[in-house]
Amino acid sequence: AITVDPSDEGAAIDDTMYGVFYEDINRAADGGLYAELVQNRSFEYSTADNASYTPLTSWVAEGTAQVLNDDGRLNERNRNYLSLDAGSSVTNAGYNTGVRVEKGKKYDFSVWARAESGTTLTVTLRDAAGTLAKVRQVAAKGKWRKYTATFKATRTSSHGRLAVATTDHAALDMVSLFPRDTYRHQSNGLRKDLAEKIEALDPGFLRFPGGCLVNTGSMEDYSEASGWQRERSYQWKDTIGPVEERATNANFWGYNQSYGLGYYEYFRFAEDIGAMPLPVVPALVTGCGQNKATDDDALLKRHIQDTLDLIEFANGPRGSEWGAKRAEMGHAKPFRLTHIGVGNEENLPREFMARFKEFRAAIEAEHPDITVVSNSGPDDSGTTFDTAWQLGREAGVEMIDEHYYNSPQWFLKNNDRYDSYDRNGPKVFLGEYASQGNAWKNALSEAAFMTGLERNADIVKLASYAPLLANEDYVQWSPDMIWFNNHASWNSANYEVQKLFMNNTGDRVVPSRATGTPAVSGPVTGAVGLSTWATSVAYDDVKVTSADGKTLLADDFSGDASRWTHSGTGSWTVQDGQYVQTDAAAENTLVTAGDPTWQNYDLHVKATKKSGK
Ligand code: AHR
Repeated sequence: AITVDPSDEGAAIDDTMYGVFYEDINRAADGGLYAELVQNRSFEYSTADNASYTPLTSWVAEGTAQVLNDDGRLNERNRNYLSLDAGSSVTNAGYNTGVRVEKGKKYDFSVWARAESGTTLTVTLRDAAGTLAKVRQVAAKGKWRKYTATFKATRTSSHGRLAVATTDHAALDMVSLFPRDTYRHQSNGLRKDLAEKIEALDPGFLRFPGGCLVNTGSMEDYSEASGWQRERSYQWKDTIGPVEERATNANFWGYNQSYGLGYYEYFRFAEDIGAMPLPVVPALVTGCGQNKATDDDALLKRHIQDTLDLIEFANGPRGSEWGAKRAEMGHAKPFRLTHIGVGNEENLPREFMARFKEFRAAIEAEHPDITVVSNSGPDDSGTTFDTAWQLGREAGVEMIDEHYYNSPQWFLKNNDRYDSYDRNGPKVFLGEYASQGNAWKNALSEAAFMTGLERNADIVKLASYAPLLANEDYVQWSPDMIWFNNHASWNSANYEVQKLFMNNTGDRVVPSRATGTPAVSGPVTGAVGLSTWATSVAYDDVKVTSADGKTLLADDFSGDASRWTHSGTGSWTVQDGQYVQTDAAAENTLVTAGDPTWQNYDLHVKATKKSGK
């Protein structure tokens, strides 16, 4: 029976409770949400981004084409440019299978060119079957200048190539092709289908731009004196202003980030989709594989000042230094920033808290209304996590960011995680979580878990699934919420769960209580399955216990193991008292039926990796 007491007032649920975490991972920006169709448009790809890159990655040259890095460059932040001899050409391969164009739609081409003696650039959009749009000719003469042309696609193709040929010697940079039909028709805009999918979620907030890419490398010097070299940390100031002046950089996830999608575009997108913007800046205590804390006080102060400048960029009047830059970019009104994250998975808790407090003091002194969110490291449990929370409580931190990626079973079992959290301590920002898969069972386990978040809406204030986007041909992290390639995008089951919660966020929790045992038909709760794709894995000592510790099933495989069956195409055998998988052409599942009355059982299994993968 379920008893509901509408008179007993439960926690209020904030409209911002469920949001999205946008991270530039899996080519979420370039080749993803950022609508630019040309890959490596400014010839800046380098081995510092990825060992396989050259400045001509994604380009094919005919004739004499050379990437130069000298005083003839377009500007100080855009180091490389292409020098193309008379009669030569370059062709760009776009992302995935190529440049995607749709019949009847318009595409805006632009290029910065320097041709002191004058030249004619012939710009062609074609695929293996022929021309995709009428060829355009652009006459260029003199010093660096931007030239434009518009294409209308006569056919649809996902295999397009953009070629630029020159009659005379020319220097080229920022070779760009944008669909006119971007999200809300914005210039330097977003890919429509992806932006609309995110908008359809109706997210309460937008956390950006990462993730590990925010804190990794944050201790490196980034003074002007270091030049516009690679492996600089992610600096929001590098991501604003004219796109040709945004110095590209190595992305933590192993590719080049153009920053064409930068802080202005993130704030604009948050505003467009009605989401509270929630940027994350590094606190100079890295996690994500590097456990270091900076001792460079000048660097720390510089990051703190940059954070204050960021707040001014978002909220300052147009007369302020950084508010003026926002206005120049087209947004005179403030973006209404109310929350900022300081630190992502920065997991030396004491070092982190010392530096976090410096950030917080500086922010609160100038912007007392801003909520400064701290972090608790990469794990959801253990000493580091406990210490981070303890220090957060002692410091009176308003909100702490937690991250965890776990199995669906974990999510089902931990529905009550927040029931026991201290009501007088910091609030929770669940900034990253996912059960490990995009299958229906994963989505369902997340939905079940989210009912626990919601029941605790007095303490869990913000929650976002992670990561949000993945280009199927450039995957560093899976599962993800929305998948795409250069011509299609599709939602995961996890997306649908998030959408249900975000589109139907209640105002208040109505306390309810369930009693009795739900009816179960068939031995559903009694089946035990072991599933693997691995080869040469041996299972031993399978034990199933009830939640209160009673042994329900125990098998050491010293017998014939006949109570187990398996599905899948791999082979299994009982050998030396172990159940051994001898090959694995596909997923294998070993199953035994248990007792239909089992509820809430735990599975303990020893899997011995013998050899192979
Ligand atoms: O979302 C993927 C990664 O998971 C993030 O970069 C990091 O914060 C976490 O470890």
